Amino acid sequence: MKEQIEALRQRFESELQAAQNSDAVEKLRVAYLGKKGSVTDLLKGLKAVAGDQKKEMGQLINQLKHQVEEGIAQQVEAIRAAEEERLIASAEQYDVTLPVDQSEGSYHPITLVQRQLEEIFSSMGFTIEDYKEIVTDYECFEAVNIPKHHPARDMQDTYYLSNGQLLKTHTSAAQNAIMRKYGAPLRAVFPGRCFRNESTDACHENTFFQMEGLMIDKDISISNLIYFMKTMLSEVFERDITVRLRPGFFPFVEPGFELDISCLICGGEGCPSCKNSGWLELCPCGMIHPNVLKMGGIDPEEYTGFAFGLGLTRLAMMKYGIKDIRDLNSGNLKALSQFKHE
Ligand code: PHE
Repeated sequence: MKEQIEALRQRFESELQAAQNSDAVEKLRVAYLGKKGSVTDLLKGLKAVAGDQKKEMGQLINQLKHQVEEGIAQQVEAIRAAEEERLIASAEQYDVTLPVDQSEGSYHPITLVQRQLEEIFSSMGFTIEDYKEIVTDYECFEAVNIPKHHPARDMQDTYYLSNGQLLKTHTSAAQNAIMRKYGAPLRAVFPGRCFRNESTDACHENTFFQMEGLMIDKDISISNLIYFMKTMLSEVFERDITVRLRPGFFPFVEPGFELDISCLICGGEGCPSCKNSGWLELCPCGMIHPNVLKMGGIDPEEYTGFAFGLGLTRLAMMKYGIKDIRDLNSGNLKALSQFKHE
């Protein structure tokens, strides 16, 4: 048994070296310490060991167990520290005191994030749709299950034109038209400028960008939603992102969720950026309400789907470490021309 313990120790050490992201370390933890893990197996095997050797073997196995636990904890910490360093390095690209280089133009940070997302979603089979900024009350509210006088309208006050049309408050305003255009099955994302009657501060603007996504098919479930969001966000942030869902209310989804990602700054331990919770709220989403499918001409008995509303503006701020949302609409080249090398 001694040799077996020693062999396991050596195997663990080399596997630990090779585990360079949190998923791999977690797998390793399960493989060694989980219910069916190798260390657990050794402990179980102790029963069969002869009485006089039991004590010594037990101690050796426990030593190994501690070593594995400690090795894993250290590796988790090392990965977190490396990610934090990367984040700080990338946040430093944003410096309002840098001189403006006017020799060549540059893309707006929101355009950069939007294009990156479009690329990721196209690679997953989504089409990219364009939609109007001026819409009807039906498109923006009624077609997404928010009838007249519904209290959910209070959250989305906007600017009305004298002909009764309005500036869209969310990209969900395009859901109905896109379902009608393509029917099911459907995979589409639609980025767009949105408006709300809001007083502005560092985190609020009256004009901002979202990207809506719809995936409708037979047997689409919450697992599909989680998988897509995790894959997409890990690509955007170029690292392993952990997501979690909390219940959230939006009349056009049932069940509805707020999707959080593990904090990019502290890796989930709690820091001022995530108000010590370890999580950042990123993206409301949910399973499309049957009424919404019906109004879009899709039979909810036959098809299900998920919808999400990514805040493009928020994502750009997180990705580039932009602290004041107002910089984005400022037209200030000093702030905005720093992203051309992305
Ligand atoms: N349209 C919602 C908003 O802007 C977000 C959302 C989209 C929620 C899709 C769920 C599903 O607040």
